Amino acid sequence: MGTVPTGVRGLDVLLHGGFPQGSTIVVEGAPGTGKTTLGMQFLYYGALQDGEAGMYVTFEEFPDQLYRDMLAFGWDLRKLEREGMLRVVSMTPDVFMEQMIEPGGLVEKLIRELNCRRIVVDSISLFRYGAAGEEEHRRMLYRLRNILRKLELTALLIKERDAANDETGGFEAYIADGFIQLGLKRQMDKYRVRTLEVLKMRGRRIREGEHVYRLTENGIRLIPARSMIEDLALLNGQTKVATGIAALDELLEGGLAGGSVYLLDTNSKANYKYFIASILAGRVRAGEKVLALLSSFLTPEDLDKMFALQGLSMSRLAQEGQIYFIEHYTRPYPPGCEANVMDVGTLNNEEYRRVVEEKIGSLVAGGGSWFVYYDLNTVIAERGKDYVTKYFAADSAGVKALGMTMMVLCNFSEIGSEVSAFLERTSNGVIRTWVDGAYQYMQVVKSPNGVISEPYVVETTTRAPFMRLT
Ligand SMILES: Nc1ncnc2c1ncn2[C@@H]1O[C@H](COP(=O)(O)OP(=O)(O)O)[C@@H](O)[C@H]1O
Ligand SMILES: [Mg+2]
Repeated sequence: MGTVPTGVRGLDVLLHGGFPQGSTIVVEGAPGTGKTTLGMQFLYYGALQDGEAGMYVTFEEFPDQLYRDMLAFGWDLRKLEREGMLRVVSMTPDVFMEQMIEPGGLVEKLIRELNCRRIVVDSISLFRYGAAGEEEHRRMLYRLRNILRKLELTALLIKERDAANDETGGFEAYIADGFIQLGLKRQMDKYRVRTLEVLKMRGRRIREGEHVYRLTENGIRLIPARSMIEDLALLNGQTKVATGIAALDELLEGGLAGGSVYLLDTNSKANYKYFIASILAGRVRAGEKVLALLSSFLTPEDLDKMFALQGLSMSRLAQEGQIYFIEHYTRPYPPGCEANVMDVGTLNNEEYRRVVEEKIGSLVAGGGSWFVYYDLNTVIAERGKDYVTKYFAADSAGVKALGMTMMVLCNFSEIGSEVSAFLERTSNGVIRTWVDGAYQYMQVVKSPNGVISEPYVVETTTRAPFMRLT
């Protein structure tokens, strides 16, 4: 089953990527909690980022206010409508149901016209007034859900909070695939915090508990509760490899997934040295062993200095068998490292591949958990692009099969779109960092949990890990 990003990054984290494709989700909350905003955010970013058209059904007589309210978040709905990516439809609940039930009716026609993948109905609470009794009301809801399924739409059904069945969400939540509750909680008698709770999500292991969200000038921003992230990483049985950078680890649900291959895509101006040094230092501190192929920008001397700043001695780590190097440029290493440096500069491609493979085999046979840092720019420069297209997929699969986690540095803009697309497909995750003007940015553009982040600004700090994402 596919996954549909929700438009709210933190919610995607909670849901392991988003809503199950084609599911019907009930969103319940008191007035003013942000249901309409959540619904529109789902459609707006669906159109903008995922290229999926959407329909917003409102039972308000005059939806002008809706356009104005959403413009406050910077969402120009009219523009999306002109581009054929959104349709705001205003009708009464009766007419909506009539048109929905009728095969080839107005609603279905519009959905097909725009090729809508998403729909929001705001709000289904109004169905109750149109229905003759509880039984008819239920029949209507059941029918609606079946039609939405048939049309293969991922649907958000907005529901006003109902004091009668506060906990369960009533029949609506019962027949839906998912149920999300928005709330306002009093905190310390004074403050009110907005909380979101996922009470049901078919096909997804959910993260229990209330998560705090805020309404910002860009819409809803949800901050998944931290302790839960850690707990779940353990429950998962999947090891997480912390990057040491708080915001990034949070995005990655505790860190890089162990036994996976990640690409770090940089442009030539971006400073990634601290990032790499922070990860490697974190790994050896966690008792892991590291195999590194350093770039011409990040020299052995650089790494030695950055380790020293974090209270680590590269010489000692080498002597204790915790760090090994593949070296193309016969550069000097700190004293005591010699035995752990494999000079490969003079080897031809076949010899290089065989020697590295053998070395990795013997290192892994020695036991322990391994982290590989591999500078692909150097490999491309020294071994050629063809070497990478020919062997990268097989070699990274081999490294993964040995249970090693690998971070591969490369520069997509330099190696061209074809090879980049190939690398991106081959890896489990892609983190991008680049410089634009006076700022450096970082963004997770692919990850095993399906999370794609917004770009963060990279700030340098005076203490390890020497950088912070804001
Ligand atoms: N730019 C903004 N920044 C912060 N809060 C906002 C902004 N615009 C609207 N809000 C708040 O959002 C809430 C309305 O959200 P809405 O999605 O209409 O809720 P609901 O549909 O659940 O009634 C109100 O509490 C309002 O104060
Ligand atoms: Mg509303």
